Amino acid sequence: DRLVLATGTRPTKLPVPGWELNGVFTLRTLHDAERIAACLRDDTRLTVVGGGFIGLEVAAARPIGSTTTIVESATRLMARVVSEPVSDYFARAHQEWGAQLLLGETVKSFAGKDGRLRAVELGTGEVVATDVAVVGIGAIPNTELATQCGLKVDNGIVVDAHLRTSDECIWAIGDCANFLSTEQQKWMRLESVQNAVDQALCVAHQLTGRRSLQYASVPWFWSTQRDIRLQIAGLTTEATSTVVRHGAVTGR
Ligand code: NAI
Repeated sequence: DRLVLATGTRPTKLPVPGWELNGVFTLRTLHDAERIAACLRDDTRLTVVGGGFIGLEVAAARPIGSTTTIVESATRLMARVVSEPVSDYFARAHQEWGAQLLLGETVKSFAGKDGRLRAVELGTGEVVATDVAVVGIGAIPNTELATQCGLKVDNGIVVDAHLRTSDECIWAIGDCANFLSTEQQKWMRLESVQNAVDQALCVAHQLTGRRSLQYASVPWFWSTQRDIRLQIAGLTTEATSTVVRHGAVTGR
């Protein structure tokens, strides 16, 4: 009688020549992670395309000593969710860990030999010798099923403040749901495990008849990159000012 869509997202593809070469990866599943880990050795030359969560966590997890290049098309790292000082902090950290950081840069093609990746050609024409490339340039909501069901879809499956779709017997939760936030007074589609778990709880309460609450959790994100643990509460996208408070350990 009731249906919950939790179809998630899938990695955005990079429509450039050589995308199909062995050694070019996206990362979404455990299987993807195992395949990438199996290829990373001390002497691997790794290029990460996209300086977001996937790219930076892969760059941070690589074997110490391996050569790493991070290619990010924006002018700073993780710009989708963090403020400028946080981007700068992570840029310094990755450079300290030995990565080469190329901001405002794109990829023109992946070049290979015998079906195997050998190099990444940048927009500038520069060629970066590469054994493994991991592409993390964002995620696309899986909305095909919702569209087939005739539900309203716009940057994800559109749901109201109770996470109900345009069909009152169908809910949608997680990365695929574009929900009406009553607190923020706007539509939001959050890509965050915490959001997915909290939305699942909210719908479970409604389905079991316990409570009929509007979804109102504070957005929450985190990322672990070597010795740095980033924790984010709330959204910074519309911030008008920034205050930096150094803790006891100023570090970088
Ligand atoms: P993302 O949106 O976090 O970062 C994508 C990055 O790629 C952005 O910095 C963007 O400017 C850049 N980019 C876009 N097109 C590009 C291009 N053509 N060339 C170079 N750079 C380009 O997405 P990401 O890292 O792919 O992650 C995918 C999903 O996985 C997201 O939903 C993310 O939140 C989730 N994730 C979350 C983690 C966490 O919460 N710790 C960890 C890993 C993934």
